[in-house]
Amino acid sequence: MKHIRYIFILINISLAFSILSCDRSKDVEKIHIGFSQAMTNDDWRRSMNNSMELQASMNPEIDLQIKDANYDVLTQIKQIDELIADSVDVLIVSPIQSKPITAVVRKAINASIPVPVVDRKTEGQQYTAYLGADNIEIGRNAAKEIIASNRKDSIRIIEIRGMAGSSPAEERTMGFQQVINQFKNAKIVAKIEGDWEKESIQESLRQLLNNDIKVDYVFAHNDRMAVGAWEVARELGIENEISFIGVDGLAGTNGGIQAVKDGILKATVLYPTGGDEAIKLALKILDNESIPKNNILSTTIINELNADIMNNQFEKINDQQDQMEEQLAAIKLQEELYYSQNNLLKITMALLAIILSLTVYSVYSIFAIRKKNRQLELTNEKVTVQRNQIEKIAKEIKISNEAKLNFFTGLSHEFKTPLTLILSSIESISDYAKEKGSEWGTK
Ligand code: FRU
Repeated sequence: MKHIRYIFILINISLAFSILSCDRSKDVEKIHIGFSQAMTNDDWRRSMNNSMELQASMNPEIDLQIKDANYDVLTQIKQIDELIADSVDVLIVSPIQSKPITAVVRKAINASIPVPVVDRKTEGQQYTAYLGADNIEIGRNAAKEIIASNRKDSIRIIEIRGMAGSSPAEERTMGFQQVINQFKNAKIVAKIEGDWEKESIQESLRQLLNNDIKVDYVFAHNDRMAVGAWEVARELGIENEISFIGVDGLAGTNGGIQAVKDGILKATVLYPTGGDEAIKLALKILDNESIPKNNILSTTIINELNADIMNNQFEKINDQQDQMEEQLAAIKLQEELYYSQNNLLKITMALLAIILSLTVYSVYSIFAIRKKNRQLELTNEKVTVQRNQIEKIAKEIKISNEAKLNFFTGLSHEFKTPLTLILSSIESISDYAKEKGSEWGTK
C-alpha cells in the first residue's frame, strides 16, 4: 500500500512536469546577429539602429545584439572581441576608422564568422561584404551639383572633411576632387579636417573666414558639419554669400532635408543608413546565398527642386514604419497572451491529471480497505470463539479447584477430630500420672 502511494506520487509529478515542460517556443532555433555600431550620438546612427531593430523584429528567430562603441576605437575592438567570443552567427560592423579595426574583423573572419561591414569599411577588403552607398559617387554628386548650379568664371570651394582614416571621408574627398579637377573654373581653396561633428570644424572655419578668404561654396562631408559651417557664416553675417552642401539627407526636424527646405543648405546628398538591408544581407549570408562583395545603396541629390517630394516620401515611409512598429507591438502582445493562456491551460491539464490519478487512487484505496475490513472481521470472529473457549476452560478449572479444596478441607477435618481426641486423652493420662507420682514420693 505504501509503495503504491509512492508510485502514484511519482507518476503525478512526472506527468505534471512533462505537461508543463513541452514549450514549443524553445524549439525555435535562434539566429544570433551581433552589430558593432561606431557610435549612437546622432540621428543618422539612431535611424540606422531603429531600422535594423525593426527588420530584425519581423523575424522572430533573430536575436540582435547591438554594441555601441561611442566613438572610441579601443572600445569597438573590445566589443567586437566580445561578440566573437559570444560566437554570433553574423557580425555586422560599422568601423569608426578603417585601419585600427581591420585586424579584429580579420580575427572574426578567421573564426568563421561572416562580417558584413556597413557605411564604413576596413582596409584591404578583408570583410565578407560591404553595404552602403558609394561614397566616391557621393563626392562626385556633390561636385556635379556645384558645377551645374554655377556659371561663374571662378568657383571657390572649402571642403570640410569627415574623420581622417574613415572610409567615407577618404572616398567622398576622392570623388569630389575627381569632378572638381575636371573644371578649370572650380577650385578647392581650403580643406578643414573634421571628425563628423560640427564642433570639430567651427573654430577653423571662423579663422579662415575672418582672414577674408573668398568662398562661394562649402562642401561638408555631412549635414551636421554643413549646418555648423552655416552657423559660423551667419555669425559673421555672410551666410547669404556662400552656398552650403552636405551629405545624409535625413528626414525630420533636425535633418538635412528640412535644412534644404529652410534655405540653410543649398543641397544635400542622400546617404541611406541601410539598417534594414544589413539584416536582410546577414540572412542571405546565413542561407549561403551568393552575395556581391559590394552591395551599393542608391543615392541622389536633394535640393530645392525635390526637397518637398523627398520629404513627403520619407514621411510616408516613416508613417508606414510607425504602423509596422505598432502592428509588431500588437502581435507581440497577442503572442504574450497566447503564451500565458497556453501556460494556464498546461497547469489546468496538469492539475486535472493529478485529480484524475488521485480519484483512481481513492477508488483503489476503497476496495483495498474493504478487503482488509473483511479480513479483520474474520480474525475478530476467530478471536471471539477462542476467548469463549478460554473462558469455559477457566470456569472448569475454577470448579475443579474448588472441588479439590473442599475435598482436602473435609479430609483434614476427618483427621483432626480423632487426633484431637487422642491428644486430649494422652494429656489427661499424663496429668493423672504426674499427680500420682508426687503422692508416692511423700509416702
Ligand atoms: C553618422 C555619420 C554620417 C555620415 C556617416 C559617415 O554617424 O557621421 O553623418 O554620413 O557617419 O560614416
